[in-house]
Amino acid sequence: MAISMQLLVLLLTFLVAATAVSYNHYRLPTSLRPQKYNLRVLTQLEDPANLRFEGDVTILIEALEDTKNITLHAKNLTIDESLIKLREINGDRQICIASTEVNTVHDFYIMHTCQELLAGSTFELTLPFNSELNRQLEGYYRSSYQDANETRWLSITQFEPASARLAFPCFDEPNFKAPFVVTLGYHKKYIGLSNMPVKETKTHESIADYVWCEFEESVPMSTYLVAYSVNDFSHKPSTLPNSTLFRTWARPNAIQQCDYAAEFGPQVLNYYEELFGIKFPLPKIDQIAIPDFSAGAMENWGLVTYREIALLHSDAHSSLVDKQRVASVIAHELAHQWFGNLVTMKWWTDLWLNEGFATYVASLGVEKINPEWRYLEKESLNNLLTIFRKDALESSHPISRPIQEVAEISESFDSISYQKGSTVLRMMHMFLGEDSFRSGLQSYLQEYSYNNADQDNLWESLTEAAHKYRALPKSYDIKSIMDSWTLQTGYPVINVTRNYKANSAKLSQERYFLNTQISRAHRNNCWWVPLSYTSQSESDFQNTAPKAWLECGKAGETLPKTIENMPNENEWVIFNTQVTSLYKVNYDEQNWKLLIETLTNGEFERIHVINRAQLINDALYLAWTGEQDYEIAMRLIEYLQREREYLPWKSAFENLKRVGRIVRQTPDFEFFKRYMRKLITPIYLHLGGLNDTFASIEQQDDILLKTLVANWACQYQVEDCVPHAQEYFREWRESPNPDETNPVPINLRNTVYCTSVRNGNEDDWQFLWTRYKKSNVAAEKRSILTSLGCSREVWLLQRFLELAYDPTDAIRKQDSMWAFQAVASNEIGFHLAKNYFMANVDSLYKFYHPITKDMSRLLPPLSEQIISQSDFDNFKAFIKENRKSLKGLDQALQQTLETILTNVQWKERNYHQLTRSIQLLL
Ligand SMILES: *[C@@H]1O[C@H](CO)[C@@H](O)[C@H](O)[C@H]1NC(C)=O
Ligand SMILES: *[C@@H]1O[C@H](CO)[C@@H](O)[C@H](O)[C@H]1NC(C)=O
Ligand SMILES: *[C@@H]1O[C@H](CO)[C@@H](O)[C@H](O)[C@H]1NC(C)=O
Ligand SMILES: *[C@@H]1O[C@H](CO)[C@@H](O)[C@H](O)[C@H]1NC(C)=O
Ligand SMILES: *[C@@H]1O[C@H](CO)[C@@H](O)[C@H](O)[C@H]1NC(C)=O
Ligand SMILES: *[C@@H]1O[C@H](CO)[C@@H](O)[C@H](O)[C@H]1NC(C)=O
Ligand SMILES: [Zn+2]
Repeated sequence: MAISMQLLVLLLTFLVAATAVSYNHYRLPTSLRPQKYNLRVLTQLEDPANLRFEGDVTILIEALEDTKNITLHAKNLTIDESLIKLREINGDRQICIASTEVNTVHDFYIMHTCQELLAGSTFELTLPFNSELNRQLEGYYRSSYQDANETRWLSITQFEPASARLAFPCFDEPNFKAPFVVTLGYHKKYIGLSNMPVKETKTHESIADYVWCEFEESVPMSTYLVAYSVNDFSHKPSTLPNSTLFRTWARPNAIQQCDYAAEFGPQVLNYYEELFGIKFPLPKIDQIAIPDFSAGAMENWGLVTYREIALLHSDAHSSLVDKQRVASVIAHELAHQWFGNLVTMKWWTDLWLNEGFATYVASLGVEKINPEWRYLEKESLNNLLTIFRKDALESSHPISRPIQEVAEISESFDSISYQKGSTVLRMMHMFLGEDSFRSGLQSYLQEYSYNNADQDNLWESLTEAAHKYRALPKSYDIKSIMDSWTLQTGYPVINVTRNYKANSAKLSQERYFLNTQISRAHRNNCWWVPLSYTSQSESDFQNTAPKAWLECGKAGETLPKTIENMPNENEWVIFNTQVTSLYKVNYDEQNWKLLIETLTNGEFERIHVINRAQLINDALYLAWTGEQDYEIAMRLIEYLQREREYLPWKSAFENLKRVGRIVRQTPDFEFFKRYMRKLITPIYLHLGGLNDTFASIEQQDDILLKTLVANWACQYQVEDCVPHAQEYFREWRESPNPDETNPVPINLRNTVYCTSVRNGNEDDWQFLWTRYKKSNVAAEKRSILTSLGCSREVWLLQRFLELAYDPTDAIRKQDSMWAFQAVASNEIGFHLAKNYFMANVDSLYKFYHPITKDMSRLLPPLSEQIISQSDFDNFKAFIKENRKSLKGLDQALQQTLETILTNVQWKERNYHQLTRSIQLLL
């Protein structure tokens, strides 16, 4: 089947190439521009064997240049050519279509007209279309849920980045904005939702019990933001006084899980109206939880769609981590209503403008509504930790990058667009200060409302504001500074070498790589770096404004910098206060020693908590790449025995996880285990072990710390962690109705389930699997799915892998990767998962196609545990032999190979050094 499909595509490509040599560019011609869409779609949900839609679209088109064809996007739609109508508005005359052709490479549907369409005229084109509601979670597709023993069907759209063309013929590029009038036809037992409020509902002219529901005309918008759904859901209204109509939708048997989203959504929407100085422009906003959904959520204008886990919340089943995820996804999607929907990137090259902004602004939104979570700080560190790793790979890519194919657009929805985008925006916010940042953003949004922009447009607005508020010297402009961050791959490490006699410091920068074989010549990129710093006696971490800049020369070369007025030789300095900028710092040995002394002598709180996380992260990275001794790094993290805050622990565990995944495959794991116990025991006891102390925890982020520490403590068998977890689990198993009563503290459930399955038997596994099937809460289902991968029984793990990809079983397609990842992260499951991936790569590809991005998520847990040269060679050969079944995963595969390579290097270079320094500390 795969082969015949390939052949067909080849053949069609050939035909298209032969007939239309003249136009094979990936962008639509610019001779025509849509001015308005009238879209009618009739959806049939009654017969499960025949779930379909049919409709017609009437597009008002303006000719900007003379042309003899109309080229737009359509994919996998049946279009009856004989029913296509084209009318010139001015003379009110019909124009015939001479012929049509299809370009399958770029999804073009081309209509050659009998006569030339002249510049300046306007035309009305009507196209009929129909297709089945597909199962692929994109375009216009089907989803379902169980109500008692009945399956209920619904339809929903997912168009970003390029799937509107699967639902109706259209000019499917973000810069072709036009207003939409949507009309949905469906059986009257359903309801219809779309971007705009309902205008009127009429009975269908011929089909019994069907209605036509017409929605109001929308504002001008990109095709990827159009959305509609036919369903039988319930909703919860939560409009705030004098604010936009706000509703939250879910299947009726989950409606009581909408309370939190309904409360949080309108609050954050109001905050954005104030932050951006622009009112939400639509008369209503709906948010809806879709049972089958591939991405996390989608910001369709006025009708935001979510996975259930990203919108629904149950006080009885969702942990604080789950709740914060809901808040953060809602805040992200609502931020898009301005960044993305109101002002849209010109082309997918600048996708980061959408995603980076939404990610950063979401953390401001969550911080505003729930300051007690200290979410901004936490999220900023998480983003930094992700980017410090991903962007240290040679195979990473710039934030802003050329895009041609649809597959490349999809690959761009990655941590570089989201987290690095967000991180550099935070950096800019910090060096510009509140007033100029806000004012620059507001004028950018105002100027490009209902229009498209690229990053240079944003830089102009911000430079103007920066100069007005004197936030930047007149000789600096935002474009030179920010281009160094958005157009270059990677980030710098800055060497700070102090001259203790002269009270000065010499600074130099180079690109930081995990791969140590990369030569100096490849490292000499230059970044414009805002420099903030403080000294031991000053300890002023509140001031994050740059005291100086590392600049770049005219040709982009690095310029060395000397900073005077450094403190005395017995005082440390720390650069990058609150880690507002994306760089690592390597100090000279003396400065590291001074820092270690302050950390270990009990005065560590003199150093800001996020800078403690920074020191841990920098020291462990620099040791990993050999630029620093492991002895220094390990002595530095010794202070963690007294650390009681979340961020430094988060940073340490992120790093130690990598080391652990390698060392646990070696004979010296014993020492590492003992060392981990020594580090973790004090904080474990301080937090009351696994005892249910949550009610008395005052600081909310201590809940997260306890959740995090519990997980590590049980993994490394600290104190009573394992038996205590098993005791909770036993109590739950003994509960007469385990689906109703669960004695395990919500925030410890992941740890308790995983530990009990890990140290338990088949019955424990089966008990949990039954709970999975009976659960009605997405967050709980995910916890369980992840824990089922913790078993040490090979056969259970193997069966679980097969269950994950069995379309007839209980795991939804969108969730199967969690099962795979859970097995692959387990040291026993890793080998099974790797073999499963390699043996079934063809069927996995078919399973995930066309959303290959989800397939790429299976790779990281594998790459983190492959550590030998021969396994590297094998995996490389495997990739080469299976190119066909790994199509569209190029970026992920390169990153996989490079990660494995750095593991191999680490093991050769550092493994003995690490073990030696650990033994000294035991
Ligand atoms: C359609 O018209 C545009 C603009 O005139 C032209 O560039 C393009 O080559 C034409 N496409 C085909 C397939 O002829
Ligand atoms: C394309 O449409 C046909 C007929 O409606 C359907 O059977 C098929 O599954 C669709 N294929 C894809 C790739 O969506
Ligand atoms: C389950 O289905 C059967 C037969 O289709 C029906 O008779 C029964 O009432 C249904 N049970 C529930 C709880 O809906
Ligand atoms: C409601 O909003 C309008 C326009 O923004 C404003 O003029 C009016 O005072 C507001 N009313 C209340 C009760 O806040
Ligand atoms: C920074 O210091 C490290 C370790 O001393 C050295 O390997 C590296 O070359 C230095 N980099 C620069 C740009 O001076
Ligand atoms: C947990 O609570 C029990 C009973 O109160 C107590 O004996 C035990 O020390 C506590 N464990 C920890 C680690 O605090
Ligand atoms: Zn987004």
